[in-house]
Amino acid sequence: MKALRISDYGQISTESVNRPVPSKGEVLVKVAAAGINPVDWKIASGDLAVLVNQALPLTLGWDLSGDVVELGEEVSKFNIGDRVFAMPVIGYDGAFAEYCVVNVNNLAKAPSSVDNTVAAAYPLVSLTSWQALFNAGQLEAGQRVLIHAGAGGVGHIAIQLAKAKGAEVITTTSAANAEFVSSLGADQIIDYTEADFEEVLASAKVDVVFDTLGGDAQRKSLNILKRGGKLVSITGISPEIEAEAKALGVSAEFVFVQANGEQLRQVAELVDAGQLTVTVAQTFALEDVPTAFEISAQGRVRGKLVMKI
Ligand SMILES: NC(=O)c1ccc[n+]([C@@H]2O[C@H](COP(=O)([O-])OP(=O)(O)OC[C@H]3O[C@@H](n4cnc5c(N)ncnc54)[C@H](OP(=O)(O)O)[C@@H]3O)[C@@H](O)[C@H]2O)c1
Repeated sequence: MKALRISDYGQISTESVNRPVPSKGEVLVKVAAAGINPVDWKIASGDLAVLVNQALPLTLGWDLSGDVVELGEEVSKFNIGDRVFAMPVIGYDGAFAEYCVVNVNNLAKAPSSVDNTVAAAYPLVSLTSWQALFNAGQLEAGQRVLIHAGAGGVGHIAIQLAKAKGAEVITTTSAANAEFVSSLGADQIIDYTEADFEEVLASAKVDVVFDTLGGDAQRKSLNILKRGGKLVSITGISPEIEAEAKALGVSAEFVFVQANGEQLRQVAELVDAGQLTVTVAQTFALEDVPTAFEISAQGRVRGKLVMKI
């Protein structure tokens, strides 16, 4: 089969490799499409080599949709022919390939109301948002949440999940994406090119900040949290930020997304209920995924990029 792999950091190529074989508790999925995420090019460049859990070469791509075509031993939850979506475990062989092996615990039936290209865009960003907002952030109905970069892959899903929970959503974006985030349900939009969110929210603090940016935005976010509020970051938390948070009476937690089939099942329900839509900005053939990495790295994508077999 064809697979997009790194043989060394910085060396990406499409190669012909053996089709993987599912072990106990795993299924083989014929990949129809795979979402593209910043983690792909960050691992490929070596910047996130720390996440790699196997010897190179490594097949990139940690989002997929497709059909189950083979069952490993002791698999009863899924059948051959099931249409599924998943986030394979980051750092092991992924889904930029014709076939990918997935543990059944990380798999769910794909939402029936969307095609495979759309289904493949959901898993990684939905699980990230779910775990950040609800597991770490403990976001409740009626609370105020600031979601940074609301037009991005993670942000545009997080806005909708927070709204579905009944929270009040404030988000940062450039003016070009204001209408987009408004259409997803954002209650207040701060154009970060024109206004400083720290000033805008100084007298209207929030219960939770979902930090997708890091750096200055993360540090300033501490000051607009209510006492007892939660900063949840997916970019990392330094000991200095932890100390600053403690002094302000707020918490700061880093979340690294975990594969989770049960949460994906709930995501699929929201999709089929019309409460969660993903925006696919552009699709790419397997061989053209390196071009998608260049686009993603510019940090301006609205929604998601997807690889289609
Ligand atoms: N820890 C984890 O488990 C985990 C999981 C997923 C992602 N991540 C990380 O989280 C980050 C976000 O991921 P993503 O997939 O959402 O990225 P993305 O889709 O590439 O984000 C692009 C979006 O960011 C917006 N943006 C850029 N600069 C901004 C700023 N200063 N203020 C507000 N919005 C800004 C852009 O909107 P405008 O054009 O309007 O500026 C664009 O729509 C990445 O660093 C990724 O590696 C971590």
